[in-house]
Amino acid sequence: MGKAQCSYVVILACSLLVNLLVVFKLLYTDGEWALSWTKRAAEQAEQVAAISCSGHGRAYLDGLVLDGKEPVCECNSCYGGPDCSEFTTDCAANADSGNPYFLEPFWMQHAAKSAILVAGWHRMGYTYPDDSFISTQLEASIHKLHAVVGNAVTEGKYFVFGAGSTQLLNAAVYALAPENSSSPASVVASIPYYKLYETQTELFRSLDYRFEGDVSSLKNISDADHVIEFVTSPNNPDGKLNKAVLHGPNFSAIYDRVYYWPHFTAIPTSADYDLMIFSLSKLTGHAGSRFGWAVIKNESVYQRMAEYMSTSSMGVSRDAQLRALKLIDVVLETGGREIFEFGYNTMKDRWEKLTNTLSVSNRFSLQKIAPQYCTYFQKIRGPSPAYAWVKCEREEDEDCYKVMEEAKVNGRSGSDFAAETRYVRLSLIRSQDDFDVLIQRLSELVLEERQQPSYANNVLDLNKPLVNTLRRGLLY
Ligand SMILES: Cc1ncc(COP(=O)(O)O)c(C=O)c1O
Repeated sequence: MGKAQCSYVVILACSLLVNLLVVFKLLYTDGEWALSWTKRAAEQAEQVAAISCSGHGRAYLDGLVLDGKEPVCECNSCYGGPDCSEFTTDCAANADSGNPYFLEPFWMQHAAKSAILVAGWHRMGYTYPDDSFISTQLEASIHKLHAVVGNAVTEGKYFVFGAGSTQLLNAAVYALAPENSSSPASVVASIPYYKLYETQTELFRSLDYRFEGDVSSLKNISDADHVIEFVTSPNNPDGKLNKAVLHGPNFSAIYDRVYYWPHFTAIPTSADYDLMIFSLSKLTGHAGSRFGWAVIKNESVYQRMAEYMSTSSMGVSRDAQLRALKLIDVVLETGGREIFEFGYNTMKDRWEKLTNTLSVSNRFSLQKIAPQYCTYFQKIRGPSPAYAWVKCEREEDEDCYKVMEEAKVNGRSGSDFAAETRYVRLSLIRSQDDFDVLIQRLSELVLEERQQPSYANNVLDLNKPLVNTLRRGLLY
């Protein structure tokens, strides 16, 4: 090789090396590979997340966009304006639905861990490689979760996933009702019960099952009649750890355990029933992802539920399953400690504020929940229910929902739980803003009560023995 040729090769090699270094520098910074096709999506997600909405609302990637600009803020109740900074002072507290926004701050604190980016080609087919509708990985994580929390025995049991527990509730009724029986199975629950059991069972108007209301309505039941009992534990609305009322060969139970997590209740024991239903909505707070699961002991019941899911929707959205997997894996990273401590402390704090506010009232009373040993926290813990079940004690306050509505508190009437209208349910799992306005309105209501002359008389009535002693003391 000539001298000129040799220096030409050296220059070429140097140029290649420099180019390689430049490309490397562009793709590898701060010890990490730079993003390629995910970069735009990641930037978009961060841009929207950076819209603060004054801490009283949220902007979303799929939110309404005005004038082709960034998504608009969706404000919490009582807040408005383009950046949710305007508080409406006389607005009503929203304590109606069970939207679980109390966990939103937790996920904002864990933004990096919990984010996922879904490729345009992610799982486009109808099934997973094993021809099922269920992610094996997600099933394994749910098994692990129950083992770590100790709230349900899942070994050797079957799983069916649903679009929230809502879809699974009817799938379970369908699976438990005997086929082609001469009379339909009776579906019952104990008052106060979650109304969806009734509305859903009635919606489907099946020949195989019929909603019959309260368990106590089954007075003239014969041994041959089949009964399906919904057992909600902790119960919505009153937080009680209900047990099945009916037992026998023709009675089956659907255990709705969606609130059986340490945020809302002590976990006294690992539940080991034939059919239990759980939901992401109340575990991680992601009600919008519509993901729930049923844990089933009996294979033929499992087959019927799986058939229901396959026929009604061909399983749960694969995107929802991916999201559920990510969220549950974040929960598992600390053995649930971070989320359950956050959830329990938030709910306990809310319950204490509520009980303090109503403790000076003779007009309203709350359900009683005793402290109990929790196997998860390994200590006796106080109540932290998802809902307050309020009773209006005055004879004339027959419609407690109306009493609250007039005081600018929107709850849910007792009649929506097949109970007396003297009761109203107040949701405690909504956003901190909703809860703060609720406490404000209830404090005003109690203050008004204390300023009425009848309040002083009531207090004297309640403390009659003490008052008499004092009077005697003054006389003698
Ligand atoms: C007792 C009970 N079961 C089931 C559900 C349905 O929840 P999801 O369909 O979001 O899982 C709820 C919702 O509030 C509930 O309170």
